[in-house]
Amino acid sequence: LYIGVDLGTSAVKLLLMDEQGKIHNIVSKEYPLYFPHSGWSEQNPEDWYEQSVEGMKELIRDCDKSQIAGISFGGQMHGLVVLDEQDQVIRPAILWNDGRTGKETDYLNEAVGKEKLSEYTANIAFAGFTAPKLLWMKEKEPENFAKIVKIMLPKDYLAYRLSGVHCTDYSDASGMLLLDVKNRCWSREMMEICGITETQLPKLFESYEAVGTVRPELAEEIGLPGQVRVIAGAGDNAAAAVGTGTVGDGMCNISLGTSGTIFISSKSFGVDANNALHSFDHADGYYHLMGCMLSAASCNKWWMDEILKTAEYTKEQEAIQKLGENQVFYLPYLMGERSPHNDPQARATFIGMTMDTTREDMTQAVLEGVAFGLRDSLEVARSLGIQIERTKICGGGAKSPLWKKIIANVMNLKVDVIESEEGPGYGGAILAAVGCGEYGSVEEAAGKLVKVVDTVEPEEELVAKYEERYQKFRRIYPTVKGLFR
Ligand code: XUL
Repeated sequence: LYIGVDLGTSAVKLLLMDEQGKIHNIVSKEYPLYFPHSGWSEQNPEDWYEQSVEGMKELIRDCDKSQIAGISFGGQMHGLVVLDEQDQVIRPAILWNDGRTGKETDYLNEAVGKEKLSEYTANIAFAGFTAPKLLWMKEKEPENFAKIVKIMLPKDYLAYRLSGVHCTDYSDASGMLLLDVKNRCWSREMMEICGITETQLPKLFESYEAVGTVRPELAEEIGLPGQVRVIAGAGDNAAAAVGTGTVGDGMCNISLGTSGTIFISSKSFGVDANNALHSFDHADGYYHLMGCMLSAASCNKWWMDEILKTAEYTKEQEAIQKLGENQVFYLPYLMGERSPHNDPQARATFIGMTMDTTREDMTQAVLEGVAFGLRDSLEVARSLGIQIERTKICGGGAKSPLWKKIIANVMNLKVDVIESEEGPGYGGAILAAVGCGEYGSVEEAAGKLVKVVDTVEPEEELVAKYEERYQKFRRIYPTVKGLFR
Protein backbone atom coordinates (compact mmCIF):
# COMPACT_ATOMS: atom_id res chain seq x y z
CA LEU A 1 0.00 0.00 0.00
CA TYR A 2 1.10 3.55 -0.78
CA ILE A 3 0.13 6.89 0.74
CA GLY A 4 -0.22 9.93 -1.51
CA VAL A 5 -0.34 13.30 0.26
CA ASP A 6 -1.79 16.27 -1.61
CA LEU A 7 -0.68 19.27 0.43
CA GLY A 8 -3.09 21.88 -0.93
CA THR A 9 -3.91 25.48 -0.10
CA SER A 10 -7.20 24.88 1.67
CA ALA A 11 -6.63 21.34 2.91
CA VAL A 12 -4.35 18.32 2.93
CA LYS A 13 -5.87 15.35 1.17
CA LEU A 14 -4.42 11.91 1.87
CA LEU A 15 -5.07 8.86 -0.23
CA LEU A 16 -4.32 5.17 0.25
CA MET A 17 -3.64 3.23 -2.95
CA ASP A 18 -2.74 -0.41 -3.54
CA GLU A 19 -0.22 -1.66 -6.10
CA GLN A 20 -3.01 -2.15 -8.68
CA GLY A 21 -3.88 1.55 -8.41
CA LYS A 22 -7.11 0.97 -6.46
CA ILE A 23 -7.93 3.72 -3.96
CA HIS A 24 -8.86 2.28 -0.54
CA ASN A 25 -9.42 5.43 1.45
CA ILE A 26 -9.30 9.24 1.19
CA VAL A 27 -9.11 11.65 4.12
CA SER A 28 -9.16 15.43 3.93
CA LYS A 29 -8.16 17.88 6.70
CA GLU A 30 -8.51 21.62 6.41
CA TYR A 31 -6.30 24.38 7.78
CA PRO A 32 -6.55 28.15 7.74
CA LEU A 33 -5.19 30.46 5.07
CA TYR A 34 -4.24 33.97 6.18
CA PHE A 35 -4.40 37.18 4.15
CA PRO A 36 -2.68 39.57 6.63
CA HIS A 37 -2.60 42.39 4.03
CA SER A 38 -4.29 42.81 0.67
CA GLY A 39 -2.51 40.55 -1.82
CA TRP A 40 -0.59 38.63 0.88
CA SER A 41 -1.18 34.92 1.44
CA GLU A 42 0.33 32.88 4.29
CA GLN A 43 -0.01 29.59 6.16
CA ASN A 44 1.55 27.99 9.22
CA PRO A 45 3.73 24.99 8.29
CA GLU A 46 2.91 23.48 11.68
CA ASP A 47 -0.76 23.29 10.59
CA TRP A 48 0.26 21.32 7.50
CA TYR A 49 2.23 18.90 9.62
CA GLU A 50 -0.36 18.42 12.36
CA GLN A 51 -3.22 17.91 9.94
CA SER A 52 -1.16 15.53 7.79
CA VAL A 53 -0.24 13.39 10.79
CA GLU A 54 -3.84 13.37 12.05
CA GLY A 55 -5.05 12.59 8.52
CA MET A 56 -2.59 9.75 8.15
CA LYS A 57 -3.76 8.12 11.38
CA GLU A 58 -7.34 8.26 10.13
CA LEU A 59 -6.38 7.11 6.64
CA ILE A 60 -4.77 3.87 7.73
CA ARG A 61 -7.04 3.07 10.68
CA ASP A 62 -8.76 0.10 9.02
CA CYS A 63 -6.09 -1.25 6.69
CA ASP A 64 -3.42 -3.91 7.14
CA LYS A 65 -0.73 -1.49 8.27
CA SER A 66 2.09 -3.94 7.72
CA GLN A 67 1.45 -3.58 3.95
CA ILE A 68 2.27 0.14 3.87
CA ALA A 69 5.53 0.55 1.97
CA GLY A 70 5.88 4.19 0.96
CA ILE A 71 4.65 7.78 1.22
CA SER A 72 4.99 10.55 -1.29
CA PHE A 73 3.60 14.00 -2.03
CA GLY A 74 2.16 16.52 -4.40
CA GLY A 75 2.59 19.89 -2.74
CA GLN A 76 1.44 23.46 -3.36
CA MET A 77 4.42 24.99 -5.16
CA HIS A 78 6.64 28.06 -4.62
CA GLY A 79 5.85 28.62 -0.90
CA LEU A 80 8.82 29.88 1.12
CA VAL A 81 9.41 27.92 4.32
CA VAL A 82 12.45 28.95 6.39
CA LEU A 83 13.89 27.23 9.47
CA ASP A 84 16.41 28.53 12.03
CA GLU A 85 19.28 26.81 13.80
CA GLN A 86 16.87 25.03 16.18
CA ASP A 87 14.82 23.77 13.22
CA GLN A 88 12.01 26.15 14.15
CA VAL A 89 9.90 27.82 11.47
CA ILE A 90 11.06 31.47 11.43
CA ARG A 91 7.89 33.08 10.04
CA PRO A 92 4.65 31.88 8.40
CA ALA A 93 5.14 30.42 4.93
CA ILE A 94 4.65 32.91 2.08
CA LEU A 95 2.49 31.09 -0.48
CA TRP A 96 2.35 30.69 -4.25
CA ASN A 97 -0.52 33.16 -4.62
CA ASP A 98 1.09 35.89 -2.51
CA GLY A 99 1.54 39.13 -4.46
CA ARG A 100 3.75 41.18 -2.11
CA THR A 101 6.90 40.88 -4.19
CA GLY A 102 5.99 43.20 -7.09
CA LYS A 103 9.07 45.35 -6.46
CA GLU A 104 11.46 42.38 -6.14
CA THR A 105 9.98 40.73 -9.23
CA ASP A 106 10.51 43.95 -11.23
CA TYR A 107 14.07 44.19 -9.90
CA LEU A 108 14.84 40.66 -11.04
CA ASN A 109 13.20 41.04 -14.45
CA GLU A 110 14.58 44.52 -15.13
CA ALA A 111 17.86 45.01 -13.23
CA VAL A 112 19.13 41.42 -13.49
CA GLY A 113 17.20 41.10 -16.74
CA LYS A 114 14.84 38.53 -18.18
CA GLU A 115 17.48 37.18 -20.55
CA LYS A 116 19.92 36.45 -17.74
CA LEU A 117 17.21 34.91 -15.55
CA SER A 118 16.13 32.72 -18.41
CA GLU A 119 19.73 31.70 -19.03
CA TYR A 120 20.23 30.83 -15.34
CA THR A 121 16.89 29.16 -14.62
CA ALA A 122 14.86 28.82 -17.89
CA ASN A 123 12.27 31.19 -16.37
CA ILE A 124 11.68 34.83 -15.54
CA ALA A 125 10.50 36.16 -12.18
CA PHE A 126 6.83 36.05 -11.21
CA ALA A 127 5.48 37.35 -7.92
CA GLY A 128 4.81 34.14 -6.01
CA PHE A 129 8.02 32.39 -7.08
CA THR A 130 10.38 31.72 -4.18
CA ALA A 131 13.46 33.82 -5.07
CA PRO A 132 11.64 37.20 -5.03
CA LYS A 133 10.29 36.25 -1.58
CA LEU A 134 13.84 35.75 -0.31
CA LEU A 135 14.75 39.22 -1.61
CA TRP A 136 11.64 40.64 0.09
CA MET A 137 12.62 39.03 3.40
CA LYS A 138 16.18 40.26 3.08
CA GLU A 139 14.94 43.83 2.78
CA LYS A 140 11.80 43.87 4.93
CA GLU A 141 12.70 41.36 7.66
CA PRO A 142 16.52 41.37 7.81
CA GLU A 143 16.54 39.86 11.32
CA ASN A 144 14.50 36.89 10.06
CA PHE A 145 16.59 36.58 6.92
CA ALA A 146 19.77 36.42 9.04
CA LYS A 147 18.37 33.45 10.97
CA ILE A 148 17.78 31.23 7.91
CA VAL A 149 19.56 27.89 8.13
CA LYS A 150 17.24 25.86 5.91
CA ILE A 151 15.07 26.91 2.98
CA MET A 152 12.38 24.55 1.69
CA LEU A 153 9.05 24.24 -0.11
CA PRO A 154 5.76 23.25 1.57
CA LYS A 155 5.77 19.50 0.87
CA ASP A 156 9.50 19.38 1.69
CA TYR A 157 8.66 20.58 5.18
CA LEU A 158 6.45 17.50 5.57
CA ALA A 159 9.16 15.23 4.16
CA TYR A 160 11.63 16.83 6.58
CA ARG A 161 9.41 16.34 9.61
CA LEU A 162 8.67 12.74 8.53
CA SER A 163 12.19 11.64 7.60
CA GLY A 164 14.62 14.22 9.01
CA VAL A 165 16.08 14.73 5.51
CA HIS A 166 16.31 18.25 4.07
CA CYS A 167 15.31 17.47 0.49
CA THR A 168 13.30 18.60 -2.49
CA ASP A 169 12.61 17.34 -6.01
CA TYR A 170 13.38 18.89 -9.38
CA SER A 171 9.78 19.65 -10.39
CA ASP A 172 9.00 21.67 -7.26
CA ALA A 173 12.49 23.23 -7.10
CA SER A 174 11.88 24.52 -10.66
CA GLY A 175 9.38 27.03 -9.25
CA MET A 176 11.90 28.63 -6.89
CA LEU A 177 13.76 30.53 -9.62
CA LEU A 178 16.90 29.14 -8.01
CA LEU A 179 17.20 25.97 -10.08
CA ASP A 180 18.95 25.58 -13.40
CA VAL A 181 16.01 23.64 -14.85
CA LYS A 182 17.79 22.43 -17.96
CA ASN A 183 20.77 20.98 -16.09
CA ARG A 184 18.92 19.96 -12.91
CA CYS A 185 21.22 21.75 -10.41
CA TRP A 186 21.08 24.88 -8.23
CA SER A 187 22.08 28.07 -10.04
CA ARG A 188 25.20 29.71 -8.54
CA GLU A 189 24.20 33.05 -10.04
CA MET A 190 20.73 32.98 -8.50
CA MET A 191 22.06 32.00 -5.07
CA GLU A 192 24.40 34.97 -5.25
CA ILE A 193 21.64 37.35 -6.35
CA CYS A 194 19.45 36.21 -3.42
CA GLY A 195 22.29 36.27 -0.87
CA ILE A 196 22.02 32.58 0.04
CA THR A 197 24.33 29.57 -0.11
CA GLU A 198 23.85 25.99 -1.28
CA THR A 199 24.12 24.72 2.32
CA GLN A 200 20.80 26.46 3.05
CA LEU A 201 19.08 24.76 0.11
CA PRO A 202 17.63 21.25 0.17
CA LYS A 203 19.29 18.28 -1.47
CA LEU A 204 17.84 17.58 -4.93
CA PHE A 205 16.14 14.30 -5.88
CA GLU A 206 14.06 12.98 -8.75
CA SER A 207 10.41 12.88 -7.68
CA TYR A 208 10.37 9.07 -7.63
CA GLU A 209 13.54 8.66 -5.54
CA ALA A 210 13.52 7.63 -1.89
CA VAL A 211 14.97 10.29 0.43
CA GLY A 212 14.80 8.21 3.60
CA THR A 213 12.35 6.43 5.90
CA VAL A 214 9.77 7.63 8.43
CA ARG A 215 11.46 8.40 11.78
CA PRO A 216 10.80 5.47 14.19
CA GLU A 217 9.10 7.58 16.95
CA LEU A 218 6.76 9.11 14.41
CA ALA A 219 6.04 5.79 12.71
CA GLU A 220 5.01 4.46 16.09
CA GLU A 221 2.80 7.48 16.82
CA ILE A 222 1.03 7.22 13.46
CA GLY A 223 0.80 3.44 13.50
CA LEU A 224 3.08 2.84 10.52
CA PRO A 225 5.37 -0.20 10.28
CA GLY A 226 9.16 0.31 10.44
CA GLN A 227 11.08 1.31 7.31
CA VAL A 228 8.23 3.03 5.42
CA ARG A 229 10.00 4.86 2.61
CA VAL A 230 9.60 8.59 2.10
CA ILE A 231 9.76 9.37 -1.62
CA ALA A 232 10.67 12.94 -2.69
CA GLY A 233 7.35 13.67 -4.46
CA ALA A 234 6.59 16.60 -6.73
CA GLY A 235 5.00 20.01 -7.03
CA ASP A 236 1.24 19.53 -7.08
CA ASN A 237 0.95 20.18 -10.82
CA ALA A 238 3.63 17.66 -11.76
CA ALA A 239 2.10 15.17 -9.30
CA ALA A 240 -1.36 15.80 -10.79
CA ALA A 241 0.11 15.21 -14.24
CA VAL A 242 1.44 11.84 -13.06
CA GLY A 243 -1.96 11.10 -11.51
CA THR A 244 -3.73 11.79 -14.82
CA GLY A 245 -1.16 10.00 -16.97
CA THR A 246 0.24 13.25 -18.39
CA VAL A 247 3.81 11.96 -18.79
CA GLY A 248 6.21 11.54 -21.70
CA ASP A 249 5.80 13.66 -24.82
CA GLY A 250 3.05 16.10 -25.82
CA MET A 251 0.38 15.24 -23.25
CA CYS A 252 -1.79 17.88 -21.61
CA ASN A 253 -3.52 18.22 -18.25
CA ILE A 254 -5.75 20.98 -16.92
CA SER A 255 -6.07 21.38 -13.18
CA LEU A 256 -9.08 23.29 -11.87
CA GLY A 257 -8.11 23.74 -8.25
CA THR A 258 -7.65 26.91 -6.21
CA SER A 259 -5.25 27.75 -9.05
CA GLY A 260 -5.86 26.76 -12.66
CA THR A 261 -3.06 25.27 -14.68
CA ILE A 262 -2.44 23.92 -18.12
CA PHE A 263 0.45 21.48 -18.11
CA ILE A 264 2.17 20.16 -21.23
CA SER A 265 4.65 17.31 -20.81
CA SER A 266 7.71 17.00 -22.98
CA LYS A 267 10.70 14.68 -23.25
CA SER A 268 12.88 17.56 -24.38
CA PHE A 269 13.73 20.85 -22.72
CA GLY A 270 12.13 23.98 -24.18
CA VAL A 271 11.44 27.62 -23.31
CA ASP A 272 9.02 30.05 -24.97
CA ALA A 273 10.65 33.26 -26.20
CA ASN A 274 8.67 35.53 -23.86
CA ASN A 275 8.73 33.14 -20.89
CA ALA A 276 4.96 33.52 -20.60
CA LEU A 277 4.78 29.81 -19.75
CA HIS A 278 6.91 28.26 -17.02
CA SER A 279 9.57 25.85 -18.20
CA PHE A 280 9.97 23.30 -15.40
CA ASP A 281 11.30 19.80 -14.75
CA HIS A 282 8.68 17.05 -14.65
CA ALA A 283 8.25 14.29 -12.09
CA ASP A 284 8.87 11.60 -14.75
CA GLY A 285 12.50 12.71 -15.15
CA TYR A 286 11.81 14.97 -18.17
CA TYR A 287 10.31 18.46 -18.64
CA HIS A 288 7.08 20.40 -19.00
CA LEU A 289 5.64 23.78 -19.92
CA MET A 290 2.93 25.25 -17.74
CA GLY A 291 0.62 28.23 -17.58
CA CYS A 292 -0.78 29.05 -14.14
CA MET A 293 -3.82 31.15 -13.25
CA LEU A 294 -3.86 32.22 -9.62
CA SER A 295 -7.65 31.97 -9.18
CA ALA A 296 -9.62 29.23 -10.91
CA ALA A 297 -12.04 27.12 -8.86
CA SER A 298 -11.47 29.75 -6.17
CA CYS A 299 -13.32 32.28 -8.39
CA ASN A 300 -16.40 30.08 -8.34
CA LYS A 301 -15.97 29.42 -4.63
CA TRP A 302 -15.73 33.14 -3.93
CA TRP A 303 -18.79 33.81 -6.11
CA MET A 304 -20.87 31.07 -4.46
CA ASP A 305 -19.71 31.43 -0.84
CA GLU A 306 -19.10 35.15 -0.48
CA ILE A 307 -21.44 36.75 -2.96
CA LEU A 308 -24.38 34.40 -3.61
CA LYS A 309 -23.99 32.90 -0.14
CA THR A 310 -25.04 29.45 -1.20
CA ALA A 311 -23.61 25.94 -0.94
CA GLU A 312 -25.76 24.73 -3.86
CA TYR A 313 -23.04 24.69 -6.50
CA THR A 314 -24.73 22.00 -8.61
CA LYS A 315 -28.17 23.61 -8.49
CA GLU A 316 -26.78 27.01 -9.50
CA GLN A 317 -25.06 25.45 -12.50
CA GLU A 318 -28.05 23.35 -13.57
CA ALA A 319 -29.98 26.55 -14.25
CA ILE A 320 -27.44 27.63 -16.90
CA GLN A 321 -28.78 27.15 -20.45
CA LYS A 322 -27.30 29.63 -22.92
CA LEU A 323 -23.79 28.38 -23.61
CA GLY A 324 -21.85 30.59 -26.00
CA GLU A 325 -24.41 33.39 -25.82
CA ASN A 326 -23.70 35.00 -22.48
CA GLN A 327 -23.14 38.74 -22.84
CA VAL A 328 -21.42 39.07 -19.47
CA PHE A 329 -17.66 38.76 -19.20
CA TYR A 330 -15.71 38.10 -16.04
CA LEU A 331 -11.96 38.64 -15.59
CA PRO A 332 -10.78 36.02 -13.09
CA TYR A 333 -7.96 38.00 -11.43
CA LEU A 334 -8.98 37.92 -7.75
CA MET A 335 -5.36 37.52 -6.62
CA GLY A 336 -3.66 39.31 -9.53
CA GLU A 337 -2.60 37.07 -12.39
CA ARG A 338 0.46 34.98 -13.25
CA SER A 339 0.14 33.45 -16.75
CA PRO A 340 0.28 35.06 -19.15
CA HIS A 341 0.03 38.62 -17.78
CA ASN A 342 2.49 38.48 -14.86
CA ASP A 343 0.59 41.25 -13.07
CA PRO A 344 0.09 41.03 -9.30
CA GLN A 345 -2.04 44.18 -9.46
CA ALA A 346 -4.60 42.81 -11.93
CA ARG A 347 -8.09 42.54 -10.39
CA ALA A 348 -11.33 40.71 -11.15
CA THR A 349 -14.04 42.47 -13.16
CA PHE A 350 -17.55 41.85 -14.42
CA ILE A 351 -18.41 43.66 -17.62
CA GLY A 352 -21.35 43.80 -20.03
CA MET A 353 -24.41 43.48 -17.75
CA THR A 354 -27.84 44.83 -18.77
CA MET A 355 -31.19 45.10 -16.94
CA ASP A 356 -32.08 41.56 -18.02
CA THR A 357 -28.83 39.97 -16.87
CA THR A 358 -29.61 37.10 -14.51
CA ARG A 359 -27.92 35.40 -11.62
CA GLU A 360 -27.26 32.45 -13.98
CA ASP A 361 -25.51 34.71 -16.49
CA MET A 362 -23.18 35.95 -13.76
CA THR A 363 -22.38 32.42 -12.54
CA GLN A 364 -21.83 31.33 -16.11
CA ALA A 365 -19.52 34.32 -16.72
CA VAL A 366 -17.36 33.20 -13.77
CA LEU A 367 -16.98 29.68 -15.18
CA GLU A 368 -16.33 31.03 -18.67
CA GLY A 369 -13.85 33.66 -17.45
CA VAL A 370 -11.68 30.91 -15.95
CA ALA A 371 -11.88 28.91 -19.19
CA PHE A 372 -10.89 32.00 -21.21
CA GLY A 373 -7.97 32.57 -18.81
CA LEU A 374 -6.74 29.01 -19.41
CA ARG A 375 -7.16 29.54 -23.14
CA ASP A 376 -4.76 32.52 -22.89
CA SER A 377 -2.01 30.09 -21.84
CA LEU A 378 -3.04 27.51 -24.42
CA GLU A 379 -2.67 30.21 -27.09
CA VAL A 380 0.93 30.80 -25.99
CA ALA A 381 1.61 27.06 -26.37
CA ARG A 382 -0.11 27.03 -29.78
CA SER A 383 2.01 30.00 -30.87
CA LEU A 384 5.08 27.85 -30.18
CA GLY A 385 3.82 25.31 -32.68
CA ILE A 386 2.76 22.85 -29.98
CA GLN A 387 -0.28 20.99 -31.21
CA ILE A 388 -2.71 19.88 -28.57
CA GLU A 389 -6.00 18.25 -29.40
CA ARG A 390 -6.94 16.66 -26.14
CA THR A 391 -6.38 17.15 -22.44
CA LYS A 392 -6.91 15.36 -19.16
CA ILE A 393 -8.61 17.25 -16.35
CA CYS A 394 -8.50 17.12 -12.54
CA GLY A 395 -9.10 19.22 -9.43
CA GLY A 396 -12.25 20.20 -7.54
CA GLY A 397 -13.69 22.21 -10.46
CA ALA A 398 -13.42 19.17 -12.74
CA LYS A 399 -16.30 17.57 -10.87
CA SER A 400 -18.66 19.96 -12.68
CA PRO A 401 -19.95 18.53 -16.01
CA LEU A 402 -20.91 22.04 -17.15
CA TRP A 403 -17.43 23.46 -16.49
CA LYS A 404 -15.83 20.59 -18.41
CA LYS A 405 -18.16 21.29 -21.35
CA ILE A 406 -17.33 25.01 -21.28
CA ILE A 407 -13.61 24.21 -21.21
CA ALA A 408 -13.85 21.70 -24.09
CA ASN A 409 -15.60 24.30 -26.26
CA VAL A 410 -13.74 27.45 -25.24
CA MET A 411 -10.40 25.69 -25.78
CA ASN A 412 -11.52 23.41 -28.64
CA LEU A 413 -10.02 20.39 -26.89
CA LYS A 414 -11.28 16.88 -26.28
CA VAL A 415 -11.39 16.58 -22.50
CA ASP A 416 -10.55 13.10 -21.19
CA VAL A 417 -12.04 12.33 -17.83
CA ILE A 418 -10.00 10.05 -15.57
CA GLU A 419 -11.41 7.39 -13.25
CA SER A 420 -9.83 9.11 -10.25
CA GLU A 421 -10.02 12.91 -10.13
CA GLU A 422 -7.57 12.96 -7.22
CA GLY A 423 -4.74 14.36 -9.36
CA PRO A 424 -1.87 15.29 -6.98
CA GLY A 425 -2.73 12.71 -4.29
CA TYR A 426 -3.00 9.90 -6.81
CA GLY A 427 0.19 11.08 -8.51
CA GLY A 428 1.91 11.14 -5.11
CA ALA A 429 0.87 7.55 -4.44
CA ILE A 430 2.11 6.50 -7.91
CA LEU A 431 5.48 8.18 -7.22
CA ALA A 432 5.64 6.26 -3.93
CA ALA A 433 4.96 3.00 -5.78
CA VAL A 434 7.75 3.73 -8.29
CA GLY A 435 10.10 4.75 -5.47
CA CYS A 436 9.46 1.44 -3.74
CA GLY A 437 10.32 -0.52 -6.90
CA GLU A 438 6.77 -1.62 -7.73
CA TYR A 439 7.18 -0.16 -11.25
CA GLY A 440 10.28 0.50 -13.34
CA SER A 441 9.40 4.09 -14.26
CA VAL A 442 6.79 6.80 -13.74
CA GLU A 443 5.71 6.40 -17.37
CA GLU A 444 5.18 2.67 -16.92
CA ALA A 445 3.22 3.13 -13.68
CA ALA A 446 1.00 5.93 -15.03
CA GLY A 447 0.42 3.95 -18.24
CA LYS A 448 -0.77 0.93 -16.27
CA LEU A 449 -2.72 2.65 -13.49
CA VAL A 450 -4.46 5.68 -14.99
CA LYS A 451 -7.73 4.97 -16.78
CA VAL A 452 -9.76 7.32 -19.02
CA VAL A 453 -13.48 6.69 -18.45
CA ASP A 454 -15.15 9.40 -20.55
CA THR A 455 -14.39 12.12 -23.10
CA VAL A 456 -16.14 15.49 -23.44
CA GLU A 457 -16.01 16.42 -27.14
CA PRO A 458 -16.07 20.02 -28.37
CA GLU A 459 -19.09 20.85 -30.59
CA GLU A 460 -18.42 22.77 -33.80
CA GLU A 461 -21.18 25.35 -33.40
CA LEU A 462 -20.36 26.07 -29.78
CA VAL A 463 -16.63 26.29 -30.51
CA ALA A 464 -17.38 28.98 -33.12
CA LYS A 465 -19.57 30.95 -30.71
CA TYR A 466 -16.95 30.78 -28.00
CA GLU A 467 -14.22 31.77 -30.44
CA GLU A 468 -16.03 35.05 -31.00
CA ARG A 469 -16.49 35.59 -27.28
CA TYR A 470 -12.83 34.76 -26.57
CA GLN A 471 -11.58 37.30 -29.11
CA LYS A 472 -13.53 39.95 -27.16
CA PHE A 473 -12.43 38.61 -23.78
CA ARG A 474 -8.76 38.98 -24.64
CA ARG A 475 -9.25 42.69 -25.37
CA ILE A 476 -10.63 43.47 -21.91
CA TYR A 477 -7.53 43.12 -19.72
CA PRO A 478 -5.27 45.42 -21.80
CA THR A 479 -8.09 47.98 -21.78
CA VAL A 480 -8.78 48.00 -18.04
CA LYS A 481 -5.39 47.17 -16.51
CA GLY A 482 -4.52 50.84 -15.96
CA LEU A 483 -7.47 51.12 -13.53
CA PHE A 484 -5.87 48.74 -11.03
CA ARG A 485 -2.74 50.80 -10.46
C1 XUL B 1 1.86 26.60 -9.95
C2 XUL B 1 1.19 27.25 -8.80
C3 XUL B 1 -0.05 26.64 -8.25
C4 XUL B 1 0.22 25.99 -6.92
C5 XUL B 1 -1.09 25.56 -6.32
O1 XUL B 1 2.90 27.34 -10.49
O2 XUL B 1 1.61 28.26 -8.30
O3 XUL B 1 -0.63 25.75 -9.14
O4 XUL B 1 1.12 24.94 -7.07
O5 XUL B 1 -0.98 24.70 -5.30
